[in-house]
Amino acid sequence: MSVRRLAATEVQPASFAFSPENEAWAATVIAKFPAGKQASAVIPFLMRAQEQEGWVSKAAIETIADRLAMKHIRVLEVATFYTQFQLAPVGSVAHIQVCGTTPCMLRGSDGIIEVCKTRIAHHAHELSADGRFSWEEVECLGACVNAPMVAVASDTYEDLTVETFNAVLDAFERGETPAPGPQNGRNGAMAEGGQTSLTDPGLYDGSYRVNIVTQGK
Ligand code: FES
Repeated sequence: MSVRRLAATEVQPASFAFSPENEAWAATVIAKFPAGKQASAVIPFLMRAQEQEGWVSKAAIETIADRLAMKHIRVLEVATFYTQFQLAPVGSVAHIQVCGTTPCMLRGSDGIIEVCKTRIAHHAHELSADGRFSWEEVECLGACVNAPMVAVASDTYEDLTVETFNAVLDAFERGETPAPGPQNGRNGAMAEGGQTSLTDPGLYDGSYRVNIVTQGK
């Protein structure tokens, strides 16, 4: 488990404010909760701040705490607990979260991390020379059956090899958004050799239902 602290003072902005669009969104979120329970909005507020700024600053944490009538330390606890929240500036184009937990490790995440070290920056959480990319190793992201995988914001890139991961990075570098999901052509988490069970089309095309109704069963 990584130690998670706020970024150095030099990179912290003096203030934080939601954009007008996000401010309107925040008002609708707060309105969903009974009076006195605004703290329930803390995770969506932090996530929206991150989507707006790219990362969660100390100013954002304190502004959100004040907005939700929470102590600053309570919001800091949430922001530092969940690895989804970036506590330092990340690449402007993509921040790559590489799963390094056992299934992904056994399927080659070391090679993916090596690519990150070579192409982005030697150390996790360092910006690339042009500031466009950053990376980190994270714990299981819940796509083990498609190991190894990485996450970029809310997209996941799965069934990676060194070659296909390089291709994903190439696409980001060109300013494209590569298609998320398995990068080996398989459909979701289906067996790599194709479907091996529940292969009867009648299970899905409604014909069994028709037979049941017409036979009065
Ligand atoms: S171990 Fe990598 S997604 Fe679960």
